[in-house]
Amino acid sequence: MKNRVILAMDKYIPLEILSEIESEVYGLKIGLPLVLDLGLEKVRNLVKEVNIEEIIVDFKLADIGYVMKSVVEKMLFADSFIAHSFIGVKGSLDELKSYLDEKGKGLYLVASMSHSGWNNSFLSYIKEVIKEINPKGIVIGATKTDLISSFKREFSSIKIISPGVGVQGANYGDAICAGADFEIIGRSIYTAKDPVNQLKSINKIIEDRVMNC
Ligand code: C5P
Repeated sequence: MKNRVILAMDKYIPLEILSEIESEVYGLKIGLPLVLDLGLEKVRNLVKEVNIEEIIVDFKLADIGYVMKSVVEKMLFADSFIAHSFIGVKGSLDELKSYLDEKGKGLYLVASMSHSGWNNSFLSYIKEVIKEINPKGIVIGATKTDLISSFKREFSSIKIISPGVGVQGANYGDAICAGADFEIIGRSIYTAKDPVNQLKSINKIIEDRVMNC
């Protein structure tokens, strides 16, 4: 698999740059800060112009089913959505999952955040929720490679996407070596002076690292 990067777009990246980047990434993850900065209409128009395999909206939804559905129905230009798993199944994730299935959209559940303060005490509950919902994918911080490996063993058919690479401290390629399918990278790319070449260098580092896992 060639492109293993999902670009986290939490800040505006001009279309000229996105057009140069599109063949270098697998996916584009749209963050809430971007939507608040640009407004939904501009984000929708920007996304329409790019040719990227998977557009993921990351609002880390954590609400009752009705409210989460009311959010995603406004963003059906995306292919998939990220929600928290700790909110549980009945009246919440079960309704969101059925709605997204009906619309042909994917759901990712957060299994573990990437920041140091995340508490893994709820892990066994989170695994129960993931088993029951059977999402398209799960999100596990790249800083937690042991967790990535254990989830990969337990949920071998579920895609793992992994943020926390670069600025948050994980090395490029480590999450993939541990079993993740894609690494989510934001600031290390969009704050670089030359985001296009920065991304190309990162892809090369990941490729070399993965060859020697
Ligand atoms: O800029 P940076 O590469 O740190 O961006 C990481 C992205 O991944 C952000 O969009 C953040 O919201 C997201 N994320 C995370 N930890 C998670 C899930 C998502 O950092 N567990």
